[in-house]
Amino acid sequence: MPETTPRGLTRLAFGGDYNPEQWPESVWQEDVRLMREAGVTMVSVGIFSWALLEPAPGEYDFGWLDRIIGLLHDNGVRVDLATPTVAPPAWFYREHPGALPVTADGVRYEFGSRAAICHSNADYRAAAANITTELAERYGDHPALAMWHVHNEYGVPVSACYCDSCAAHFRRWLATTYGTVDAVNDAWGTAFWGQRYADFGQINPPRLTPTVGNPGQALDYRRFADATMRENFVAERDILHRLAPGVPVTTNFMTALSQCDSVDYWAWGREVDIVTNDHYLITDGRRTHVNLAMAADLTRSVAGGAPWILLEHSTSGVNWQPHNPAKAPGQMARNSLAHVARGSEGAMFFQWRQSRRGAEKFHSAMVPHGGTDTRVWREVVELGAGLDSLSAVRGTRTEADVAVLWDWQSWWAQNLAWRPSEDADPRERADAFHEALYDRHLTVDFAHPEADLCAYPLVVVPALYLMTKAAGDNLRAYVENGGTLVVSYFSGIVDEHDAVHEGAYPGPLREVLGLSVEEFSPLLPGRNVRVTGPEGAELGGDVWTEFVVPRGAETVWRYADGPIAGHPAITRHRLGEGIAWYVSTRLGREGLDVLLGRAAEDARLAPRADLPHDVEVVVRSGESGRFLFAVNHTGADAKVPLDTPGTELLTGEPAAGRLAVPAGAVRVVRLDG
Ligand code: GAL
Repeated sequence: MPETTPRGLTRLAFGGDYNPEQWPESVWQEDVRLMREAGVTMVSVGIFSWALLEPAPGEYDFGWLDRIIGLLHDNGVRVDLATPTVAPPAWFYREHPGALPVTADGVRYEFGSRAAICHSNADYRAAAANITTELAERYGDHPALAMWHVHNEYGVPVSACYCDSCAAHFRRWLATTYGTVDAVNDAWGTAFWGQRYADFGQINPPRLTPTVGNPGQALDYRRFADATMRENFVAERDILHRLAPGVPVTTNFMTALSQCDSVDYWAWGREVDIVTNDHYLITDGRRTHVNLAMAADLTRSVAGGAPWILLEHSTSGVNWQPHNPAKAPGQMARNSLAHVARGSEGAMFFQWRQSRRGAEKFHSAMVPHGGTDTRVWREVVELGAGLDSLSAVRGTRTEADVAVLWDWQSWWAQNLAWRPSEDADPRERADAFHEALYDRHLTVDFAHPEADLCAYPLVVVPALYLMTKAAGDNLRAYVENGGTLVVSYFSGIVDEHDAVHEGAYPGPLREVLGLSVEEFSPLLPGRNVRVTGPEGAELGGDVWTEFVVPRGAETVWRYADGPIAGHPAITRHRLGEGIAWYVSTRLGREGLDVLLGRAAEDARLAPRADLPHDVEVVVRSGESGRFLFAVNHTGADAKVPLDTPGTELLTGEPAAGRLAVPAGAVRVVRLDG
């Protein structure tokens, strides 16, 4: 069995992508000296090195890699060794131009950046297997090897290829998935607009067509593209497992929904030995620390609650947004430790030394252009020492209060064209509910809609347009057995083929919610509605309204205005031992808080009113103890009440009563007992 923690790593992971090939060897000595100074424990090597390792077909140059891995080993730095299959060399494309991916409108990409790969291409698959085999044979039992890093961020930036090889591969995938072409016709509803296929050979990828193509075909193509990348990951992983038994294999995910939308991470989480993730702050005006918490929660959930590793983030600014602010003093440590609080076994960066040339030379790094007499370097050294004092948290798990259901496949389906409103955005709802729970100081696990939910007193469904009957049954059993459920609008509408469930909306949820929805009535941009409820309390909504017909549910809030004034807006239904809430409009920030407050009462989740706003408090626990992380994202000093005394690990001070967390600082208390 492969191990599930990096081999030989006895502290938290701290380091980054290390690209020594960008530098003369004379710099390497300084690199390892600085790594020791900063307390670096692991680096990722070789991610983009294929062209150097195999300069011509079948000709290898491993000398430089031997030397750098040896040097790292001599300096006590563990190696996360990559297969370089995200960056095939120029010679490869000269020989195999068919490996370059094609867009839906028929344009073939050129060589010259990275990740230009058609994952169905047989030549690419053979070449990737070959370089992976060479690396596994050479380094599989190297004492520096901690884990394998396959490829890089599958699904980004090319999410699917539409070439003829993919067309043939798609047909084979359909034949395996459906058995007969008639089963495909039924699933996709090809009777509509005369799209019927007589045999598999007539089916193509969903390429450019005059108007909207078949939604079932488009959804299946996303599944196919994802499965095809996963086939390639599994092929490399299996070579590594065979030639280097026991060494764990990972590939770096990008779970932030704003950064990758093409990978079904529930499926990928089952294939890796260690879940790892990359996370970058997006400056789109939203609260970046909340977005970070959401990505970390998603990553931990994809790992089934087990520890995972933050493999990349940035020490300061990135360089691929229109505007790339530097991180504020202290922000890098706060970001790093917020990931650790939510289950990461360390904090790694892109990249170790800031490049002088190439596309990412203005992206920050651990060793900036300015060298070591810089704020960034001093903070890097400080973070290394901080992480070193937190070694005991390794192996512990983050405690969660609430489950939020999320399904990448439902997201894909809802984002297809021609929906009742393009403003009904599932990602926006997932963000909004997560943020409202974050602000109530509730720690969120994400869960697949068919997962066992009985451990959670409260389950929230922000947006599950696609819901299988099995998921509906799961939610019903959850409520009947005493759970509290909150469901937001436009959930439970279609099955796995994007076919509307039979009967009234929302098919698999009608009984559990005790209602049906007769008609959607989305609002035009800029239009709002008011809903009034108990004791005249008024909430605001926009984007969506609908005609809800209670069939057992009690109406708690009603539309006060808008197209369906007077009708139910928010309902509550008792079923068995539990309660199911339904909200039929897009509640604003305040409305969500009120609704979740009511649901939390039903779920008997104690309020955390004693915790200050934007001071994140998360607990990790396990065999080595209980650890309370307090991350102060505000500019004011804060106090966090402790139920149990303990020792603050970053300062070594005893902690009891009300823990002082200075402005912008992080405290980690090992609780006694
Ligand atoms: C990641 C990628 C790295 C680097 C980084 C910073 O997505 O894996 O190679 O490009 O972004 O931009």
